[in-house]
Amino acid sequence: WFQKPLVVVVIGASGDLARKKTYPSLFELYQHGLLPKETMIWGYARTAKTHLEFRDHLHPHLTPGQIPTSSKKLKDFLELCYYHNGKSYGDNEAYAAMLGEITGMDTFNAKDANVLYYLAIPPNVFAETVATLEGMPNAVVQGKTRFVIEKPFGRDTASCQALLDGFKGLGEEMQFRLDHYLAKPMVENLATLRMANPFLENMWNHEHVESVHIRFKEPFGTQGRGGYFDQYNIIRDVLQNHLLQVLLLVAMELPSSLFDSAGDESDSFRQAKIEVLERMPPIVLEDALLGQYDGYKDDPTIKNKDTNCPTYAALRCFVNSKRWKGVPFILEAGKALDQKVVDVQVKFKNRHPFPSNMVTIEVQPKPSMTMTAHMKPLGGASGTMDVTTTNLTTDYSFDGSDDILSKPIENAYSRLLLDVLRGHQNNFVRSDELVRSWEVFTPLLHQIERDNIQPVMYEYGSSGPSSRPAFMDEMVQANMKSSL
Ligand code: BG6
Repeated sequence: WFQKPLVVVVIGASGDLARKKTYPSLFELYQHGLLPKETMIWGYARTAKTHLEFRDHLHPHLTPGQIPTSSKKLKDFLELCYYHNGKSYGDNEAYAAMLGEITGMDTFNAKDANVLYYLAIPPNVFAETVATLEGMPNAVVQGKTRFVIEKPFGRDTASCQALLDGFKGLGEEMQFRLDHYLAKPMVENLATLRMANPFLENMWNHEHVESVHIRFKEPFGTQGRGGYFDQYNIIRDVLQNHLLQVLLLVAMELPSSLFDSAGDESDSFRQAKIEVLERMPPIVLEDALLGQYDGYKDDPTIKNKDTNCPTYAALRCFVNSKRWKGVPFILEAGKALDQKVVDVQVKFKNRHPFPSNMVTIEVQPKPSMTMTAHMKPLGGASGTMDVTTTNLTTDYSFDGSDDILSKPIENAYSRLLLDVLRGHQNNFVRSDELVRSWEVFTPLLHQIERDNIQPVMYEYGSSGPSSRPAFMDEMVQANMKSSL
């Protein structure tokens, strides 16, 4: 894809996602010289705008702090950006007119181009968009086509299946289902950490691990996204995708290689994740703590003022494999909490009379790994079993220069777009994986809705519902009922 002309078409170009993530990431790749020499980026949406108006609309989003840039680069990039509007996302004529314009440009050899459709649109218009686009470029543009699809991929197993049916006409290799957590540097590092460090991997099992706790805490609420959030809730917004993906990487059996004998990317990595999912029974309500922060319903975009939508959830799940038999995995995520952090805490079984060891892998804000080590207190009396606990921490972030061009690409969206251009699928979610992942959460989600299960209220900026410590204790008791 790097040798041929490229047309990127961002569908839903005037929306939040496109503005905040898609275009800045394309710009980052452009600055690093990682887009093909001949590239055009077309935005498509319903609002009428000229190319120039659209460039003005993009401009402020392309110069955030993390992307210092010369105005020349920015100007050149904006000149690659064009815009077309249509009546709807299934507007045949509008797409045909846009493709006509693309191929009619005399500065660009579009006939031979590859086309990347980036669907930055809500799932209810996925199907009509794809049905309209399918096959269309081949009539005009001769190259290959790939689709990037953003979450949410449905609300439950059935709606996910229906969405996938809408994509049936496209080969799996053309679809890149994006979960940006998969390209966060520390998440990508999980498999390597295990593969390259036998002292971790050899302990990575039920004989040594007492519990695994994957946390996502955000110190702010829905911030005007309440309309969307209330339809989905924290389980669909964060747990079913981002945290589950982290769990799969923690729990999977490591593939022996990421490449096959021909040097091509092998699918054994994604296959290993699916094998974890196949051993995960659906989560039950007794293993769930649901919360809602005070003030959530005041968000003017939330219509249903009686909403029982959880903005916090802690869910216990199990992986019934030989390796993980009986080990509780707790997924915990919440909005409006006391802290901003995403991490994985692996607690090891203790050796009597000493306390447990813990390995904490922090994904953000400060990617790092910390291991506890217990030592005899320096200068302590001899002959006692007293210990003091110290932390061994290793940093996993780039620091120093603000010059983006001197650093590797860290931004998850940019890294994923690069993978799409390279045709690397490992960091994207396979369709069977997606269906299985919904099966783990769907019964619980349906029960919450059907039985109108009420969340426990918690204070904005607190550590969650006041029953949280008791719930956590109960969930990690070693001799608890497991779903075996
Ligand atoms: C998104 C969710 O997928 O991820 C948001 O819809 C959440 O609610 C966001 O805030 C978190 O992403 P990050 O990269 O900021 O941790």
